[in-house]
Amino acid sequence: MEPTIAVIDFGSQYRQLIARRVRENHVHALLFPPNVKPEALRNTAVVGIILSGGPSSTYVPGAPTCDPAIFDLGLPILGICYGMQLGCGLLGAKVTPAECREYGRTALRILRDDPILAHVPRDTTVWMSHGDLVADLPPDFIPLAATPRCPYAVVRHSVRPFFGVQFHPEVTHTPHGGQILRNFVFDICGCSGTWRPDHIVDQSVEEIRRTVPRDARVICGLSGGVDSSVTAALVSRAIGDRLTCIFVDNGLLRANERERVEATFRGHFKVDLRVVDASERFLARLAGVFDPQEKRRRIGHEFIDVFREEARSIPNARFLAQGTLYPDVIESGVSEAGTAASIKLHHNVGGLPAELGFVLIEPLRDLFKDEVRVIGELLGLPEEMIWRHPFPGPGLAVRIIGEVTRARCDVLRRADDIIVQEISDAGWYRKVGQAFGVLLPVAAVGVMGDGRTYAGQHVVAVRIVETTDYMTADWVHIDHAVLERISSRIVNEVPGINRVVYDVSSKPPGTIEWE
Ligand code: XMP
Repeated sequence: MEPTIAVIDFGSQYRQLIARRVRENHVHALLFPPNVKPEALRNTAVVGIILSGGPSSTYVPGAPTCDPAIFDLGLPILGICYGMQLGCGLLGAKVTPAECREYGRTALRILRDDPILAHVPRDTTVWMSHGDLVADLPPDFIPLAATPRCPYAVVRHSVRPFFGVQFHPEVTHTPHGGQILRNFVFDICGCSGTWRPDHIVDQSVEEIRRTVPRDARVICGLSGGVDSSVTAALVSRAIGDRLTCIFVDNGLLRANERERVEATFRGHFKVDLRVVDASERFLARLAGVFDPQEKRRRIGHEFIDVFREEARSIPNARFLAQGTLYPDVIESGVSEAGTAASIKLHHNVGGLPAELGFVLIEPLRDLFKDEVRVIGELLGLPEEMIWRHPFPGPGLAVRIIGEVTRARCDVLRRADDIIVQEISDAGWYRKVGQAFGVLLPVAAVGVMGDGRTYAGQHVVAVRIVETTDYMTADWVHIDHAVLERISSRIVNEVPGINRVVYDVSSKPPGTIEWE
């Protein structure tokens, strides 16, 4: 089993980030809930523990705590913020509200050399975000560093391998935070840094082979995105032609999406690919619908209907492969074994409910998106598919404000294709999170040739955002020359559009999509 760092999650907004930071050093990390039992950690080959931050105060009744027996496992433990207060508290220190809360960048001075602070300058900056602090430190603790308002900003226990940092080493605003995490995982926990996301490939292939009996088939809904494509490629490697992929063309796809998926899967993999043209059905079900949530609901139901009909014609299809990722697993609540008790079905219509009667296969459920991309490259998926921007399950329907019709889909698809082409040609595609067009139901007056135009002339909004997690996003200060080319090509090449605007809203308060 892979040596693993356990991140015990006390509700910090940075919990995923801690696991990411550890994995960036090629050390496997998993999140566990506060009530994890020591045996579960032992059974998962845990070699070190990080107690995350969290929004509570350790002295408030009912505040999350962990089983004190994990301190007797003999494993190194690093407490971060709340995790430090909790660990110090369980080992005899007193935690109190700070006189002044500390938020943001603060100067840290190292008082004493220690392996946890190796290679960190004596004076540095750290990112604080706390209202409580460790006030009374018993004699068996050693203070290692302080900030002007926090005398015990870094501490260690003199006998046990317990370390505490009051600040957040996992955020980039703590410039030497990465070094502190590396000191912990390599020098203190003894990790070797040999884990690679592609180790998952052999493991998953083995596991899929063990799970799926020789007479059974697996089906996989392909959406054209990286998660479902990598899932399909992995399952195909495991069981070859016993995989059937279903690609539903709902008429709401980006330009050439269907052709691209067909070419990749027919050309590279030995899978039975069924392409279902259901665009008439979807468009009929969307006729007269203006409300965004109603559009989503109808598309979701139609997708399941189409999928179910298709699946019925595949003999022995008892397994369903899905591209669930680790963030989905974490969001839905992490169980003792470090995996989710119940998978939240993402609003992506590719996420099919297990009630369809299938056994789920989720080979990516321990991975972050960038790790999935590494695996995609390893499996030989084309770069263009691996780096494709995320596309919502309901597709163009939530980018066409108002009623969705085939003609309006065609108009938006052409404009969107120009946006993507120009962004790519200018070298921006990989630098931004999402770039797309939105068709507005606004008729705009224009002049084309010698006449004024109005009827049938609409507006396209260009939305280009940068984001790391899609929870928050900023609009991109893209070269004006690129916007100029996008605008002039759209009004010249897409009949029905005479005006192009650029969306300069952040999320929050805006969302990335318009609907
Ligand atoms: P918002 O618009 O909520 O989008 O800021 C955040 C991310 O989620 C995608 N998105 C969806 N994905 N089904 C999906 O599969 C949906 O209904 C849906 N709505 C938004 C959006 O493209 C962005 O990446």
